[in-house]
Order: sequence, then structure tokens, then C-alpha cells
Amino acid sequence: MAKVGDYQIRRCEREDIASVVDINAETLPEHYSDYFYYEILSEFPETFLVAELEGSLIGYVMCRIEYGFSHLRKLGLARKGHVVSIAVREQHRGKGVGTMLMRATQEAMTKRNATESYLEVRVSNSEAIALYQRLGYKVSGRLEAYYKDGEAALVMAIQIGQ
Ligand code: ACO
Ligand code: ZN
Repeated sequence: MAKVGDYQIRRCEREDIASVVDINAETLPEHYSDYFYYEILSEFPETFLVAELEGSLIGYVMCRIEYGFSHLRKLGLARKGHVVSIAVREQHRGKGVGTMLMRATQEAMTKRNATESYLEVRVSNSEAIALYQRLGYKVSGRLEAYYKDGEAALVMAIQIGQ
């Protein structure tokens, strides 16, 4: 599907979920049931991508396509790609994999007729926020005590497919 250096970006398959769960456990405090991953994969296979190096998974991005209030236009409705979770194993960061996963999933979102992409991110997660900003995401809101430990989330969004 796409390459960054020796990293291959491709669609997630059912057989990859165990590795995706493992990467999530290692990198993020937000965990989900295995069922949740399989459910998203079966409903939105185009926007669930993995990054692979020499046969091992080192990153993933998992998204949903939703219909609801726009994060970019007041009172408008929109088809939105929701980046539910993205992560790259620590040893493989800073090599463009996260950027590539985001670009590739945004492109796949537009094929499912989404006109914007959005996500929530911890206010303290400066590395992820910097990545989203570099891609052109803008802060569209803030959700107080969004996470279980009480931390707030920034909602960030971008128009896609133009
Ligand atoms: N060579 C060297 N450096 C590069 C290259 C390259 N080819 N391409 C980009 N970079 C730099 C970028 O400039 C950037 O640097 P900066 O932010 O210090 O300016 C940095 O590398 C990161 O960009 P990428 O390499 O594209 O991103 P990465 O693969 O490191 O993944 C991610 C970013 C996913 C946020 C990662 O840090 C991570 O997994 N963090 C832990 C999990 C996490 O916080 N996920 C996001 C939660 S929010 C949500 O899921 C919606
Ligand atoms: Zn979310």
C-alpha cells in the first residue's frame, strides 16, 4: 500500500489483531477489549492500517467513519473519519511511520466519503499533538476529564479530500 524506508504500510488483517493489542498495551494507557478491535476491523477495514518491518508489526492506526456534527463548520453535519487510536513502538518512532499511517488512513477515509478527520489527544501528549499539527490538524475543542485519570483531551480536526 505504501512504504517509508523499510517500513511497509498495509491494511490490518484479523491475524494481526493480537500484535495490535500488544502494541497498544505497550504504548498507551487506553486499552480496549479484543472484541472492539475485531468489530472496528470488520466495519471499517479500509482505515485500519498497520506498519510492518521484516514481518513484525510495529505500529497501527484504527479509525471509525461516523456521521454527525462537523468539527470544522458551525452547526453543519459531516461524514467524519475518527482516529480512535494510533501508536508506533518506541524503538521505531521518529522515522515517519506515524505520519505515513495518518496520511494513508486519511486517504482511505476520503474513499469512504468522509470530508473531515478528527481525534482526541491528551493535553500532555506533545509528541502526538506536534504530529497532528504538522499534518494540518487544528484544535477544535477541549474535553475536560475525558480520560479515566482525569486528564483533559484536545479535539483536533482537519478537512480532507480537497
Ligand atoms: N526520519 C526522522 N525523523 C522523522 C522522519 C524521518 N523520515 N519523519 C518524521 N520525523 C520526525 C518528525 O519530524 C517528528 O519529530 P517532532 O515531532 O519531534 O518534530 C517525529 O519524527 C514524529 O513523526 P513520525 O516519525 O511520523 O511519528 P512516529 O512514528 O514517531 O509516531 C506517535 C508518532 C504515533 C504519536 C508515536 O509517538 C506514539 O506511538 N506515541 C505513543 C502513543 C500515542 O501517544 N499515540 C497517540 C495517542 S492520541 C490518538 O491515538 C488519537
Ligand atoms: Zn476518539
